[in-house]
Amino acid sequence: MLSSALCDRLNRQINLEMYSAHLYMQMGSWCAYKSLDGCARFLSQHADEEMMHMRRLLTYMNETGALAILGSMQAPPAEFQSLTQVFEKIYEHERFVTQQINELVHLANTEPDYSTLQFLQWYVAEQHQEEFLFKAILDKINLIGTEGQGLFFIDREVGQMATRGASEDTTMTASNQAE
Ligand code: FEO
Repeated sequence: MLSSALCDRLNRQINLEMYSAHLYMQMGSWCAYKSLDGCARFLSQHADEEMMHMRRLLTYMNETGALAILGSMQAPPAEFQSLTQVFEKIYEHERFVTQQINELVHLANTEPDYSTLQFLQWYVAEQHQEEFLFKAILDKINLIGTEGQGLFFIDREVGQMATRGASEDTTMTASNQAE
């Protein structure tokens, strides 16, 4: 059974993952508006991943007999100065998510709640991958540059990452996770 403190933190994380999905869907829409179709596809796919992160938490709470609560949500930003700014904001957001996961892990460890601690290990590994992924995209943007045909090549590269991700997709459950 979860403590009320852990319930609160897990609910906060559920809502943060949902916000991440909204944020990436909105950014994907901005990319589509700017004819950056590869980035739009990648971000839409990544929004789906964030919903999976949310559902996994929700399922875990349900399995422990706790009530998952979906709160209200602020609207994500809809205007961006450039594609570079979009990915800078994503990288910053993912670092914030990592910090929140770390605090959640710390709480589970100090209570202690070893079941939740074990459950959260997947998120620890996932945040490592998320930061690595978006740092790599930012590095690529800086390497190629956005002048001339740069944006076209970046959009194509990122779009190919979306295609790869889709072909490697797997079905996730709370208790059986294949990365
Ligand atoms: Fe659910 Fe991108 O972290």
